[in-house]
Amino acid sequence: MGDKMLTKETKNDFPATKAVNYLSTASIGLVPNPVVEKTLEFSEDLAKNGTLTLSEEKEVMVYDNLRTTGSELFRCDTQDIAVFNSVTEALNSIAWSLDIKKGKIISTNIEFPSITYPWLRIADKNENIQVKLINANNWCFTIEDILNAIDKETRVVFLSHVEYLTGQQHDLKKIAKQAHEFGALVVIDGIQAAGYIPLNMRELNVDVYITGSYKWLLAPFGTAIAYISKELCDTLTPVFVGWRSAEDMWNLNPVELKYPLTVRKFEYSTSAYGVKVGLAESIKYLQKIGIEKIQAHNWKLTERLVKELNGIDRIEIIAPENRGSIITFKIDGRDSQEVNKKLKKLKRPVELTIRQDMIRISPHIYNTESDIIHFIDNLTQILS
Ligand SMILES: Cc1ncc(COP(=O)(O)O)c(C=O)c1O
Repeated sequence: MGDKMLTKETKNDFPATKAVNYLSTASIGLVPNPVVEKTLEFSEDLAKNGTLTLSEEKEVMVYDNLRTTGSELFRCDTQDIAVFNSVTEALNSIAWSLDIKKGKIISTNIEFPSITYPWLRIADKNENIQVKLINANNWCFTIEDILNAIDKETRVVFLSHVEYLTGQQHDLKKIAKQAHEFGALVVIDGIQAAGYIPLNMRELNVDVYITGSYKWLLAPFGTAIAYISKELCDTLTPVFVGWRSAEDMWNLNPVELKYPLTVRKFEYSTSAYGVKVGLAESIKYLQKIGIEKIQAHNWKLTERLVKELNGIDRIEIIAPENRGSIITFKIDGRDSQEVNKKLKKLKRPVELTIRQDMIRISPHIYNTESDIIHFIDNLTQILS
């Protein structure tokens, strides 16, 4: 397969890449044509035909099918997957349902805000809860920084698997081991990891792992899935409830709420079903290529990128020990927005992301080594 992930059959699935060097998956992934079609087909059929097409059974199946493909991605039991509408919704829903009365919540001071805000909000309401945000050192953490922050007061460790800003990949097994020794839970946001890092919930041994549709999983906006361990699930009562929260959702019994025995109890309402169908389809699309293969491909591209960036003066790469498919760097004495504007004006524009005044590059299956070289050549020219 060389450095190309796409085959004769799939090379036209990402039309934007014909004109643009798209290196911005950590922001929004490109949705492959077959997934776009499947999503639109379902949504159009539902819009035009209502209950003529969406039987009660089919409505149940939309989530159950996503649960099944989600469990293949996460390597866990189907019944341990709950379907949400966004990662932020899932994080909030789970944070509040943990019903922590006192103790410490551990996260970091450079996390994506959706990870820290729910706890800042909860701690605002309850003075017995302290949110401890570990300070990054030049945007990175050692594993000891994290392990040393976990102690007997810790109730939850709330972290990303791969950091959105720097690409740092945390060693979840070590973190889970330490946290569990102190009786703390581990809740992970995997939106910057799932889709190119092979996952196995039993091996990672985290309590919750959430991911969203629209980045590395290459699906439309509007859905997320969460693994919640059986042991934890049994102890939780959802905060939000609605007609879908009942064991038999078609029973529509308004006087008694009997939850399902599984994490399905976290699902409460109708939603944009087309994107749920789309996410199931995109997971299958990625699995057909092979997550291990994608990881090796993305790794090769980011390695090449680091090698080339190291050869350019005034560039400082943020270099975590262990990383995912995200490379972030600063250019001494240059405004990154200015550089970005110039890259956008090229005949073949480069699409990247600026975060905290740094340049973030995040290649995925539709990128090749030529994209990396194209970016580097043009960057070198702009900087010279
Ligand atoms: C680490 C992380 N978590 C959550 C989100 C947002 O997820 P959602 O839009 O599904 O709430 C992002 C988006 O950039 C992110 O990088």
